[in-house]
Amino acid sequence: MSRRTLFVTTALPYANGPFHIGHIMEYIQADIWVRFQRMQGHTVHFVCADDTHGAAIMLRAESEGVTPHELVARVAATRPKHLSGFRISYDHWGSTDSPANTALSQDIYLKLKKAGFIYAKPVEQFFDPVKAMFLPDRYLKGECPKCGTKDQYGDACENCSSVYSPTDLKNPYSTLSGATPVLKTSEHFFFRLSDPQCVAFLQEWTRTDARGNARLQPEVFNKAQEWLGKDGKGLADWDISRDAPYFGIPIPDAPGKYFYVWLDAPVGYLASLKEYIASGAALLAGETRSFEQILADKETQQIHFIGKDIIYHHTLFWPAMLKFAGAPYKVPDNIYVHGFITFSGEKMSKSRGTGISPDLYLDLGLDSEWFRYYVAAKLNDKVEDLDFNPDDFVARVNSDLIGKYVNIASRAAGFLVKHFDGEVHPGATDFIRIFDAEKVGAEVRAAWGDREYGKAIRAAMAFADRVNEYFDAEQPWAKAKQVENEQVREQLHQACSICIAAFKALTIWLSPVLPETARKAAKFLRTSEVSSWNDWWTPPHRIEVYTHLMHRIDAQQIDALLEGPKAAVPPPPRPPSASPTIGTPGTSPPDSAQITIDDFSRIELRIAKIVNAEHVDGADKLLRLTLDVGDGRHRTVFAGIKSAYRPEDLIGRLTPMVANLAPRKMKFGLSEGMVLAASGDGPGIFLLAPDSGALPGMRVK
Ligand code: MSP
Ligand code: ZN
Repeated sequence: MSRRTLFVTTALPYANGPFHIGHIMEYIQADIWVRFQRMQGHTVHFVCADDTHGAAIMLRAESEGVTPHELVARVAATRPKHLSGFRISYDHWGSTDSPANTALSQDIYLKLKKAGFIYAKPVEQFFDPVKAMFLPDRYLKGECPKCGTKDQYGDACENCSSVYSPTDLKNPYSTLSGATPVLKTSEHFFFRLSDPQCVAFLQEWTRTDARGNARLQPEVFNKAQEWLGKDGKGLADWDISRDAPYFGIPIPDAPGKYFYVWLDAPVGYLASLKEYIASGAALLAGETRSFEQILADKETQQIHFIGKDIIYHHTLFWPAMLKFAGAPYKVPDNIYVHGFITFSGEKMSKSRGTGISPDLYLDLGLDSEWFRYYVAAKLNDKVEDLDFNPDDFVARVNSDLIGKYVNIASRAAGFLVKHFDGEVHPGATDFIRIFDAEKVGAEVRAAWGDREYGKAIRAAMAFADRVNEYFDAEQPWAKAKQVENEQVREQLHQACSICIAAFKALTIWLSPVLPETARKAAKFLRTSEVSSWNDWWTPPHRIEVYTHLMHRIDAQQIDALLEGPKAAVPPPPRPPSASPTIGTPGTSPPDSAQITIDDFSRIELRIAKIVNAEHVDGADKLLRLTLDVGDGRHRTVFAGIKSAYRPEDLIGRLTPMVANLAPRKMKFGLSEGMVLAASGDGPGIFLLAPDSGALPGMRVK
């Protein structure tokens, strides 16, 4: 087979927080494929980068009181631990906020403009007069135009499910400032995605790749066809600009205009490759060509691993951008799409506490190859979700990796070392015939290449089963008692050697998934031959004393993983204290000095209706409450009551609030007041409630 150059990427994660386990799953999928291709002798450039730009990151930084650069740098610093922890073998990790990406994004844009694919037109949009910025849809809420439910986003109503556009909302408000947004017009730049040339290109591109094979997975192809429309009129032009203030790359010759983050994000793939080549590190891997030469080479394949939620961007925008920008850019060869990881059937959600934290996984000292193996065993080439089930995880790893694979080495090694000084019998090559290894090796190899990882693992484990059965049938423990008999001794030697040779083959077949175990096994097998696929044929010559290659999962470790670092969490902060008269009897008396009635009346207490309550991403103790105090606007208040209340149970309740508290900037946003709750020295937080009949806005005196 000819040597290929594979330029492989994974989706660039948003740089607004550390990796979640979905990211890690994607990286593992790509990493297995990359390691496998490297073993085949192909040149692979495997890169990724942080996706740093956009309004969300800008606003997040603002609410945390840091610059976007600081936020992005802080997040970038968390990457290496996870990447090395889960053994993801990127050649380079870049950032979209880099000189290379700025230059490439602007170059692509200018080339598209020159080719006539860019035009400007005025767009009317909601503008927040307080923040002095156009409001991205996710920061706009209002009343449903159909059923009047409050606090609905601009696209659809959660109550009556009707679909509408942001301008249809009644009494719209900015969730950033609470202000009523105004419609304002500004000029935007558009990419002519609907241009007939573009549509014709995409019709063609989505079908077959340069080798005449299907370019996309069937379900991805169908999606793309749906978007393109039967008549090819399904696509709208793409708005690629945003107005200042925006954290992004400036558009050349257009002061105050920036590229929409989704324009420069995929360009980050190229920027990361370019940086990698420019760094000289690729020379060590034998890559002597320039970035441009690599892209120009007909043998280079550009492959993007992504999740199912970003198919549109990768099968329409991105190839079209590259195609019409022209040289030195090339269109992607394949987009490999995966489904989402779920947890016992539930979607991953930080706020609901579903999912597992990659950080905690590593901190608990869990072996990352367990997770790699589990993910691999459940992956195929389809866009299907993959469920992580804790019991299944423990059972699978213990029974397959420990009970089947590692077991072979640990059972056979002792006899070889004890009776034969570790020397492997020359007849070990018989393992190929006995276990039909040539066929299995070919099956496993094809399956890795096709991203049918579950299939590869099933074939390897069926092989391991046969080796274990063979070992049992040979009864080495019985033979070891008759080693004075030369013939039995020979049989013992050969049987154990055959098992060890099979173990080496398995090690190589599984090494894309278990690189660290393969490294340790290579030491045990006293060989360096585990990095090239065809090394599986050759039995080792002599082995070391067997030491643990991998240990079993202890179910308790998984409990710790699912429960989170409880011990490390400090007790909840004292919520705003209630008035002393309602303190639980028997708790410590109030110790503050006395105040006058005038002091007290300076506090404007009012009845508020909790119109919305939600978890706050990244906050352990807070809920974000949206309060209606009857004054025609909504206030956001962060309350430290998460440990005591489920958000859905709070919606609709009345509670007193301090209505004239100066707004306070918190890590998660602006808090405009405070609700009242009782708490004592023991556990429990108790939100106050007025007697029935009270209405939002009533003064509490
Ligand atoms: N920044 C964009 C991608 C830009 S690519 C030029 C983005 N970032 S993301 O952080 O939201 O997602 C990164 C990748 O993680 C995507 O491929 C996404 O599909 C994937 N996943 C997000 N949640 C996931 C799971 N629960 N499971 C598996 N992958 C998941 O989108
Ligand atoms: Zn509605």
